[in-house]
Amino acid sequence: MQLKNYAAWIPVENAQLEVGLAPFPRCGDDELVIKNHVVAINPVDWKIQASGGFNLTYPAILGSDVAGEVLSVGKKLKKKFAVGDRVISHALGLGNGPAYGGFQFYPILSAATTSLIPDDVPFKEAAVLPLSISTAAAGLFMNANLGLNFPKADSNLGRPFTNTKDTSTLLLWGGSSSVGSSVIQFAAAAGYAVIATASPANYEYCKTLGATYILDYHNPDIIPILISVLKGTNVAGAYDSIGSDTTVRQCASVLHALGGGKIASVVSSPEDLYGDVTVARIGSTGIVSQEPEVAKMIWGRYVPWALKNKKFVPSPKALIAGKGLDDIQKGLDRQKQGVSASKVEILLDDE
Ligand SMILES: NC(=O)c1ccc[n+]([C@@H]2O[C@H](COP(=O)([O-])OP(=O)(O)OC[C@H]3O[C@@H](n4cnc5c(N)ncnc54)[C@H](OP(=O)(O)O)[C@@H]3O)[C@@H](O)[C@H]2O)c1
Repeated sequence: MQLKNYAAWIPVENAQLEVGLAPFPRCGDDELVIKNHVVAINPVDWKIQASGGFNLTYPAILGSDVAGEVLSVGKKLKKKFAVGDRVISHALGLGNGPAYGGFQFYPILSAATTSLIPDDVPFKEAAVLPLSISTAAAGLFMNANLGLNFPKADSNLGRPFTNTKDTSTLLLWGGSSSVGSSVIQFAAAAGYAVIATASPANYEYCKTLGATYILDYHNPDIIPILISVLKGTNVAGAYDSIGSDTTVRQCASVLHALGGGKIASVVSSPEDLYGDVTVARIGSTGIVSQEPEVAKMIWGRYVPWALKNKKFVPSPKALIAGKGLDDIQKGLDRQKQGVSASKVEILLDDE
């Protein structure tokens, strides 16, 4: 029987998603096609729906996070992937056209942002990860951003915070966000002491992932407290996983008081900061297009190894908001309402 592909299309800017037929994909030599089992929703999905951008041509297919089963394998990938393999992938629809968007039954995926997942990790757990993997890796490891050391394959989660110059510390604004959850795990595995901000309800969550010290960003004295905690340590930089003007400025105040440094920000990059503080705006696809050695190291080597060895744990928890392509719009609306240490997902079959 001929398989049919369906997608949740965005017909024009500012319109609701509509389910309809999509061409059945054929993958290139470096690509895979999967049968999509679970998609996760990211803020960028509803942000594009509300305000456009990314030079999209419409109708378009959004969606960055997918988990599913390999249906066809490009010629050059036969040694790495096989039909039936279970994978997660950062779907690269933005910039590459609708066949590459995540919100369809059979998306085309780039092998550069795809990883095998172990049999004991359900698709709905693993689907929370892909965009956060690329974004965390881009901010932490690209030389254009913080340029930190890669995680070591044999490292333990976390390390004691000694408050001495021997320990390289990372200031992470937003430890319980989806991106922040991968930042903590990668940075801790690379040997950095992660000092994160979060709500008190998520302190334990951040600690479990490997953060060394967590502080409440609602505290009006958060800046002087962070300065005193980080003083005397070797601060490797700040990762702002929230990326509002306010949070970038908060990170900048801390770094400035400690003698300056670099911030990697997921969104905002104001220019009128202190002379000794620079801000790099993270682009998650930079790990493929600008510094491909980062994608090779993280997606190609570290993630498959660390998932298998339980050194990298799918986080945050999935918040299932519906089932089927028709419910993806509901998922976007739910993500827009705000979440705390959880990732909105839509199941596409009987997971
Ligand atoms: N540049 C890129 O390529 C790229 C890629 C992916 C995402 N992004 C952007 O990155 C941002 C985060 O995305 P996400 O999916 O990780 O978000 P998310 O998981 O939806 O963020 C929710 C979390 O943010 C935390 N939070 C909210 N305000 C905070 C503040 N002022 N300080 C510290 N934590 C705060 C909350 O923590 P508590 O519940 O603990 O309070 C909550 O856990 C979005 O703006 C997204 O568009 C950019």
